[in-house]
Amino acid sequence: MKKTVTIAFANNKGGSGKTTSCANIGYSLATLGKKVLLIDGDMQLNLSLSFMDEEKVLEYATSEKNLYRAVKEQKDLKDYVINTPYENLDIVPSSTLMSSIEYDLFTMWQREMILHNILETIKESKAYDFILIDAPPTLGGWVMNILCASDYIVMPVEASPWGLFGVANMFDFVDDVKKINKKLELLGVLITKVDARKNYYKQSIDNLREAEGVEVFDTIIRVDAEVEWAQDNSKPIAVHKKSSRAAAEYLETAKEIIKKCQ
Ligand SMILES: Nc1ncnc2c1ncn2[C@@H]1O[C@H](COP(=O)(O)OP(=O)(O)OP(=O)(O)O)[C@@H](O)[C@H]1O
Ligand SMILES: [Mg+2]
Repeated sequence: MKKTVTIAFANNKGGSGKTTSCANIGYSLATLGKKVLLIDGDMQLNLSLSFMDEEKVLEYATSEKNLYRAVKEQKDLKDYVINTPYENLDIVPSSTLMSSIEYDLFTMWQREMILHNILETIKESKAYDFILIDAPPTLGGWVMNILCASDYIVMPVEASPWGLFGVANMFDFVDDVKKINKKLELLGVLITKVDARKNYYKQSIDNLREAEGVEVFDTIIRVDAEVEWAQDNSKPIAVHKKSSRAAAEYLETAKEIIKKCQ
């Protein structure tokens, strides 16, 4: 029987490629025929901006139809789903009000489980093969909610000294979350923003691949100037430029994810 697989894109290190990976893996999974729901869990609205222009994103952010409203009022998330322009790909947009979510969660009963609970109907309906959640660069109660609602974590890590520095903190946090969500697993570390002109990335990759119990995706995501042009146009990289290196690498990563989740 088909199951909906929920994956959090999380790493407390800012700018590690969480949103870029979530958006483009989501799009790639959809082109591979999978039904995908994206959830923008960050007040920066970057996942929403990956698919809709600024005007539209701000319209959702200030309306009743965003993730913040659903969490704060503990409403069924199925009523907050928006179609993207792409087949098989839907999204729950975010709001800048997510900046106060930690404060709002504080007084809620079983506050780690709010997102898990409001996602239940969608998961039970089996309308989606994958739910991908873009997490903000923090390690608080809200990211705990995201991880408690997830089966797996994809952890984008930038192949730089400071990119690797925070990995241990993230793993400690995941161990804490596992006390509540026992089934949570690291699907893989995804090495991102690799600049092949520099040598350091080779050492980062070796360090990660040799670390005990750390699953690392075979595909690495290299720096590609087309990524920012695509984001400037609110389009997935493969729609902006199908022949780009990043489009091909994200498609390969999506195939790896399908294989790992079988
Ligand atoms: N493969 C790539 N090539 C070039 N630029 C990239 C690539 N991946 C990401 N970037 C750029 O790096 C920056 C950070 O990426 P992104 O926003 O995806 O990271 P993030 O982890 O979601 O950040 P935050 O922690 O702020 O949410 C963005 O400006 C993005 O355009
Ligand atoms: Mg982000």
